[in-house]
Amino acid sequence: MKLEIDQERLSSEIERLAAISDAEPPAVTRIVFTPTDLKARAWVIARCKEAELAVRQDAIGNIFARWNGVDPAASAVGTGSHIDAIPNAGKYDGVVGVLGGLEAIRALQRSRFQPKHSIELLVFATEEPTRFGIGCLGSRLLSGTLSADAAAKLEDRDGESVDEVRRRAGLNGNLQDVKLATGYYKAFVELHIEQGPLLERAQISFGIVKSIAAPASLRISIEGAGGHAGGVLMPDRKDALCAAAELILAIENAARSSGAVDTVATVGVCDVFPGAVNSIPSRVGITLDIRDTDLARRDIAMQTIERASHEIAGRRQVSIQSELLNADAPADCAPEVRAALADSCRQHGVPFLEMVSRAYHDSLFISRIAPTGMLFIPCRNGYSHRPDEYSAPEDIARGALVLAESLAKLSG
Ligand code: GLV
Ligand code: MN
Ligand code: MN
Repeated sequence: MKLEIDQERLSSEIERLAAISDAEPPAVTRIVFTPTDLKARAWVIARCKEAELAVRQDAIGNIFARWNGVDPAASAVGTGSHIDAIPNAGKYDGVVGVLGGLEAIRALQRSRFQPKHSIELLVFATEEPTRFGIGCLGSRLLSGTLSADAAAKLEDRDGESVDEVRRRAGLNGNLQDVKLATGYYKAFVELHIEQGPLLERAQISFGIVKSIAAPASLRISIEGAGGHAGGVLMPDRKDALCAAAELILAIENAARSSGAVDTVATVGVCDVFPGAVNSIPSRVGITLDIRDTDLARRDIAMQTIERASHEIAGRRQVSIQSELLNADAPADCAPEVRAALADSCRQHGVPFLEMVSRAYHDSLFISRIAPTGMLFIPCRNGYSHRPDEYSAPEDIARGALVLAESLAKLSG
């Protein structure tokens, strides 16, 4: 079997997809189920059909593109990632795993490899939490981690529910049916950019993921009292933004003082009401994203934040309400998938590091229902979730090559 990746075609497809965006290049913004995202999804489906893959979508919009194996009834070997992108993102997060996965399948087809188990490209719906507050909706439903009822009711900032939005996108199936049958996947592999600097620093081509850190997120609303910026004297104020400022610093401190660099916490959203220069903020909404490789340590940091929140609310006479959106356990990657990835790297003479994924991925949830692994490629300066995110075309092509080799091993 002679595997050859068409690097030029893969690079030009990445550029084509990046051009379907709501942001000025080089930034990419593709929020799930916006007209732009729907256009991107249609473009990817067309590429899968060109490769003669059998395409179907489920009720939440996960796209499955299957190359049937010798035994189509046998469990499949899956690969894939996502194409939705947060505001002001780059071209590679998720996309490398989707278009690299497609090119890996095309390379196997060109090599005349005959898969015994079908090989399936999976484009996960709504991996990013931007629209509905919670990430990995598609894989949460596929794995049964989130109930169909709970998913249907999630709302975006305009108060539109997942159910309304997906139906408008033409996805009218039953959300209950999204969950995959036991044994649907024999194995699953996700190719992704590292989103951290370790591979580049070590000048090593690949990371084979051992485990994926545990993410949690909360929506926090702070309610104080508004009023005239000139008229209300300082001792009489219940400024919601000042309380939020203290809480944000308490969050930073909880992560910094956990005793490990693996605890990370971020407040990435701060909505101020009414948002007028001469009006005291009466209401503030913030988000908390907190993660750790160690579940217990993450939960201790969350408790520390909770105590700080009570203390700030009492002292400043404001109300602080938190809504827990998700608190997920970490995942271990499967030894057999890691071994297939490691053997493929060795076969192609490329070194690898075994590493932890600090970012979350749909693989976190797919690992609950199938042996799962992840292959990381370097990205410049570790940048991700920003417009200057970059992975070299040779690294992406090498990633697709090792992915193809691994898929062959797992499906042969
Ligand atoms: C995924 O995009 C993450 O935030 O880890
Ligand atoms: Mn991302
Ligand atoms: Mn991603």
